[in-house]
Amino acid sequence: MTPVTPSIAGRSVHELPTPFAVLDDAALEHNLATMAAWCREHGVELQPHGKTTMAPALFRRQLAAGATGITAATPAQVRVMREHGVPSVQLANELAQPGEAAWVAGEVAGGGFGFRCWVDSPDGVEILQAAAAAGGAVVDVLLEVGSPGGRSGTRTKADRDAVRSAIDRAPNVRLTGVAGYEGSVAGDRTAPSLAAVRSYLETLRAAGEEVAGDVDGALVLSAGGSMFYDVVADVLTGGGARVIVRSGCYVTHDSGMFHRNSPLDGPDAPARLRAALTVWGTVVSAPELGRAFLDVGRRDASFDQGLPIPLAVLPRGSAEVVPLDGAEVTALNDQHAFVALPDGTALAVGDRVQLGISHPCTTFDKWRRIPLAGPDGVVTDVVETWF
Ligand SMILES: Cc1ncc(COP(=O)(O)O)c(C=O)c1O
Repeated sequence: MTPVTPSIAGRSVHELPTPFAVLDDAALEHNLATMAAWCREHGVELQPHGKTTMAPALFRRQLAAGATGITAATPAQVRVMREHGVPSVQLANELAQPGEAAWVAGEVAGGGFGFRCWVDSPDGVEILQAAAAAGGAVVDVLLEVGSPGGRSGTRTKADRDAVRSAIDRAPNVRLTGVAGYEGSVAGDRTAPSLAAVRSYLETLRAAGEEVAGDVDGALVLSAGGSMFYDVVADVLTGGGARVIVRSGCYVTHDSGMFHRNSPLDGPDAPARLRAALTVWGTVVSAPELGRAFLDVGRRDASFDQGLPIPLAVLPRGSAEVVPLDGAEVTALNDQHAFVALPDGTALAVGDRVQLGISHPCTTFDKWRRIPLAGPDGVVTDVVETWF
């Protein structure tokens, strides 16, 4: 977590001390536009998950590109979004803390704040009702649909009916639709995974039909992380509901899990997202043939969904970044990357190496300030994160 100060604006990223993460502005802009176009074509709204970046400057760009709100996972994230002027937030969780529910009720009662959260239990409805009534607010909710053995969310129709009855008894809680997260059902796009995701989404659609009569105005159906939004659009659109997808990772995409598993990557994709977040390190040791060590570790880059991927090298003393094919990070320590090199490839002490990442969320949260680089690698701005 090396601090990078705003004074770096105007400098080349190749002058910055490693390790550092960097955002490629052109790739970001491409991803914002590509996803916005995809959502328009498929008749869905986008409320990107903000926990991916927790970067208000990126929330503003997502909203400017057409997102109708930002999704949060925790009340603290909602507060950050609210403090930074996000006009509409979907809390993709039950609001189970009375104190935070009271704060939300106050914000909603104050006006100018579009908010909805999920509920999956009568207890959750009761907590929200008490806070909303005390604060003089009516709080919108989505009934969460889970899956057996999965994450949060109602399991059965009987569970859903129990939550609906609780909402009926709660005059300050308004049901607006159903929501869920198909990403907890599967983690890749193999045929069995896609079938499991489709079946889960069919249950979610059916749950929407169950509650449609309870909802005034347009029924909301919300699902969709970054791996299956095509299946979400396929299963949930066409019935007149407002379908809201919540992909967070599309904004930077990656060189690992989403590169392999995104609906917008790969040879058959209708358009391709680009990896906009990378991490640079320096070779600090090359003590054996076929082996080099970088000053990048678990402090600096994601490792929960695959290790970083060597992309390119800037040899010491050179001005030209060249591809680094066939190299592999085989392990990370806190502040070291172990790089295995193919026959015929060498790295020397002082070379600078660009690493792709797998899973943007867990690289963003390692950095408080991330340089934004323009076309020729010149830093144009610094993006702050608020984890
Ligand atoms: C409820 C919910 N919605 C949306 C997302 C965003 O998905 P992704 O990280 O694939 O962009 C997540 C991610 O964990 C999530 O938990």
